[in-house]
Amino acid sequence: MTSPLYNRHLLSLTRHTRDEVNYLLELSHAVKAAKRAGRERQLLRGKNIALIFEKTSTRTRCAFEVAAADQGAHTTYLGPTGSQIGAKESIPDTARVLGRMYDAIEYRGFGQERVEALAEYAGVPVFNGLTDEYHPTQMIADIMTIQEHYDGPLTECCLVYLGDGRNNMANSLLLIGAKLGMDIRIAAPRELQPEQQYVELARREAAESGARVTVSDDVAACVKGADFLYTDVWVSMGEPPEEWQRRIDLLTPYRIDAELVAATGNPHVKVMHCLPAYHDLGTEVGRQVAAQHPRFSDGIEISHEVFESARSIVFDEAENRMHSIKAIMVASLSAEATPEGVYSA
Ligand code: CP
Repeated sequence: MTSPLYNRHLLSLTRHTRDEVNYLLELSHAVKAAKRAGRERQLLRGKNIALIFEKTSTRTRCAFEVAAADQGAHTTYLGPTGSQIGAKESIPDTARVLGRMYDAIEYRGFGQERVEALAEYAGVPVFNGLTDEYHPTQMIADIMTIQEHYDGPLTECCLVYLGDGRNNMANSLLLIGAKLGMDIRIAAPRELQPEQQYVELARREAAESGARVTVSDDVAACVKGADFLYTDVWVSMGEPPEEWQRRIDLLTPYRIDAELVAATGNPHVKVMHCLPAYHDLGTEVGRQVAAQHPRFSDGIEISHEVFESARSIVFDEAENRMHSIKAIMVASLSAEATPEGVYSA
């Protein structure tokens, strides 16, 4: 068997079939098991991978670097400063240069059109490490983590994303949840619900997969019966304080705290977050928001109590970024990448 994703990009998961996503998930579990067993087979020896980060990162960068090293590949990190990308050299020119030197390119940055242009011009596989619209590598890690914590089939699993629905996480969870036939719900205020194009895309996927897709501002109805609650940050350093105020006013009912967890009615419900999270005063943003709004001293989008509780699986998600990114790279760069083929003899 040859990898069905050999030589393929991973740009948004819109072009991947349900079977191809399931293949990536199976491969992710296999490479994790192989590493844990001390039987990892190096399928990327001699490969060179460029890592473009126009925005900062902890998990995604480290996941690519560790996964590549485990597999015998070399990486070059091109950070937000220090290269010609953007200011002095266009994306198509950068793509053609890097495509002559590297076997694959990871890109984290701004609009989706930038990673699409890289893929069009590079001549080698391109992986989206986060754009304003999509975060596909995070999706493979998240569903992998759900599979580790949920006994039934994904088609019986209810995943609820709460908070800002107009971001790459909400768009991506809608897409993958619908593609895999899940009960996927976005709980967000009307002003921050996903753009219609993402909802329509999810509904088209759902027509194929049997998924249930809900977008609503009714928090209580959305969380009832949830198996997994998911959130992401509401504010970032780049936004002005007046925007923070507006978001906090809109999003406070969607905060994951003990009361919201209880409202699911599911004693086994788990809590997810792509990280980084504002759950205490250990960050600059956390301290700035708490100074103006003392009620958020114990967390903004998620309470510290819930974040640190046994139902929080956020660090399993973080670890799985590395295993799933390894699977994504191996699937594209090695024809021999099969779930059985990732083990050494
Ligand atoms: N979740 C995530 O993408 O983390 P980083 O921003 O640290 O890469």
